Amino acid sequence: MVEDRMCRPGPLDNRLRRWAAPPSRDLDALDILPGMHVVDLGAGVGYFATEVLRRLGPTGRLDLVDIDGENLAIARSRLGDDARVGFHIGSAATVPALPDADYDRVLLSLVLCCLADKDGAMETAWRLLRPGGRALVTFPRGALPSRRGRVVLRVTRARWRSLLARRPWLVRPTRRGWAVHRFLLEKPARPAGAAPNDAVAGGAATVHP
Ligand SMILES: C[S@@+](CC[C@H](N)C(=O)[O-])C[C@H]1O[C@@H](n2cnc3c(N)ncnc32)[C@H](O)[C@@H]1O
Repeated sequence: MVEDRMCRPGPLDNRLRRWAAPPSRDLDALDILPGMHVVDLGAGVGYFATEVLRRLGPTGRLDLVDIDGENLAIARSRLGDDARVGFHIGSAATVPALPDADYDRVLLSLVLCCLADKDGAMETAWRLLRPGGRALVTFPRGALPSRRGRVVLRVTRARWRSLLARRPWLVRPTRRGWAVHRFLLEKPARPAGAAPNDAVAGGAATVHP
């Protein structure tokens, strides 16, 4: 069994990142609206949290999940007491505490590249999303440095295709990143097979990693 946390990210919130990849860029793509339920899988120190909460307004809900309690503790100290926020220490590949089909939006930012059970994490995103809900998934274009004898965690093109193929995701167009791959996925509102969906019919959504 491979330890399901393969990299320690260190400080994930700094001026360079805020300048080069501000939270608003990914959150605009996710189209977060007031009152929504959002879950950030592998939330780290909560890079997106303040901006997500601003967009959610008083009736929204944000759940932060991370396997690293230290990162979540930093996020908690930054966000303070906010009844809209839940903190969950655990793997993105399982998180049994969160209810099925309850979330409008899922964030998986720079996480698939850090965990071994990528299928599990994508499965969680699918499980948590309500039909019609959307997930933003990002991962680096290049390989992360890996030590000899450790699993290579890079999300290759072939690996991404296999992850997408697990479920009938609709892949919505979104802005390309120069250093990261960015994918906006939608869980179809209709059960697969009930009617032709965009991915199959060749509509606005496509499945091209
Ligand atoms: C590169 S950081 C990205 C953090 C955050 N999503 C962001 O964009 O700032 C990767 C995060 O994934 C977390 N992580 C690694 N393996 C995980 C797992 N199996 N389940 C949940 N979180 C995990 C790490 O602890 C770390 O906080």
